[in-house]
Amino acid sequence: MTTDKALWAGRFEESVADEMQAFGASLPVDVRLWPEDIAGSWAHADMLAAQGIISEADNKAIQEGLESIAHDIVQDKLEFDIASEDIHMAIEGELTHRIGEPGKKLHTGRSRNDQVVTDFRLYCVQASEELQEELHELRMTIIEVAEGNLEVILPGYTHLQKAQPVLLAQHLLAWQAMLERDSLRFKQACFAADASPLGAAALAGTPHNISREATARALGFSRIIPNSMDAVSDRDFACDFIYAAAMTMMHLSRMCEELILWSTEEFGFITLSDAFSTGSSIMPQKKNADFAELTRGKTGRVYGSLMGILTTLKSLPLTYNKDLQEDKEGLFDAHDTLTLCITAVRGMIASMTINSKRMLEAAQGGYMAATDLADWLAARGMAFRDAHEVVGQAVLYAEKQGKRLDELSLEELQQHSNEFTSDALKVLDIKHVVEARTSPGGTSLKSVKQQLDDLRSLR
Ligand code: ARG
Repeated sequence: MTTDKALWAGRFEESVADEMQAFGASLPVDVRLWPEDIAGSWAHADMLAAQGIISEADNKAIQEGLESIAHDIVQDKLEFDIASEDIHMAIEGELTHRIGEPGKKLHTGRSRNDQVVTDFRLYCVQASEELQEELHELRMTIIEVAEGNLEVILPGYTHLQKAQPVLLAQHLLAWQAMLERDSLRFKQACFAADASPLGAAALAGTPHNISREATARALGFSRIIPNSMDAVSDRDFACDFIYAAAMTMMHLSRMCEELILWSTEEFGFITLSDAFSTGSSIMPQKKNADFAELTRGKTGRVYGSLMGILTTLKSLPLTYNKDLQEDKEGLFDAHDTLTLCITAVRGMIASMTINSKRMLEAAQGGYMAATDLADWLAARGMAFRDAHEVVGQAVLYAEKQGKRLDELSLEELQQHSNEFTSDALKVLDIKHVVEARTSPGGTSLKSVKQQLDDLRSLR
């Protein structure tokens, strides 16, 4: 069984087998490129007319035809012919159906090979810009929560064991820093996509007297791709985009893991808002951090898209190969997934309750002033290794007594070294421990305020 012949079917005597129509088609996936496809055709037809390759009258008919198609798509009045292989053929077929002869001239000096990657690059430029905006909003939310809770102290961890107390703002600004790098990666992905392949035609260029600069300029590209073969086969920009998305998901996932831990009864550091958590159908008491878990889970599928495109590109000979049609689905999915996850994380952070009392209590346990006590001895001339040993014994003693370090008396400390004086007790105060860390990038209030100050250009 076969259906109607395709736009390219001149040299064919038979149509593609029905079973293969859907297999070969990308329309269900690339239909979302319709705005870019129409923009590309507008620019191309304008250029053809300006170069005297088609008449002004034909150009006018093409422009108006494309406009009416765009209008009908927006109004949801156009059903694409599902037999169309892709969005490019669907729009061109519809155009010719509407305006007749001039529609058939649109494809002069152009191939779907440069057309598809023009559309895809335009999409990536815009998506990268949007994601930088989304990330900016999330970073601002994090900064606002940091600024609104400047004095809050919680334990800092290594190996997920309490290590040293830190300001909550210090912790949040570390999240901010991850996202700042992600934003830079999207800027880089945007730059990679921002080059016009249009005019490369099938692979080797075209004998028509086209102007690649004119179409690049009209579409807002900042440069043209210098080599026509590279233009139609390069998908590095798509890898860059998905890599940036995968890195951002990895960071969101790490943040979500902390939100999940912090919202457990065992930690109790935060309470997620009702709007950003869910319940259980059997256990009435439950409030789950579902959206944080989903974000963590969806990270895997974005990694999958990165592996997918890298594997698709591996071993592809120059130039266009149909394998390249597989480049879009994963990228679109990565874009959608990341956008949703940023919204989820931003909502959770903006609406969570910070249980600062609980954080402080946790920071007071865990012998987290131990390093400071050793530093105190070292500052008085004891070799740090010896000081480490002395304080280690004091910790062991306190643990056996069921006491915190700051609950030990001077006499108890002096059992471990007679270097200790009442001054030593001061360093055991958790606020003192935080405030002592004045090194650049450290967790003292002064250093944290400096970090916030350095971020003021974001606002
Ligand atoms: N649907 C194709 C894709 O997404 C468009 C380019 C097809 N070119 C070709 N020579 N078959 O890659």
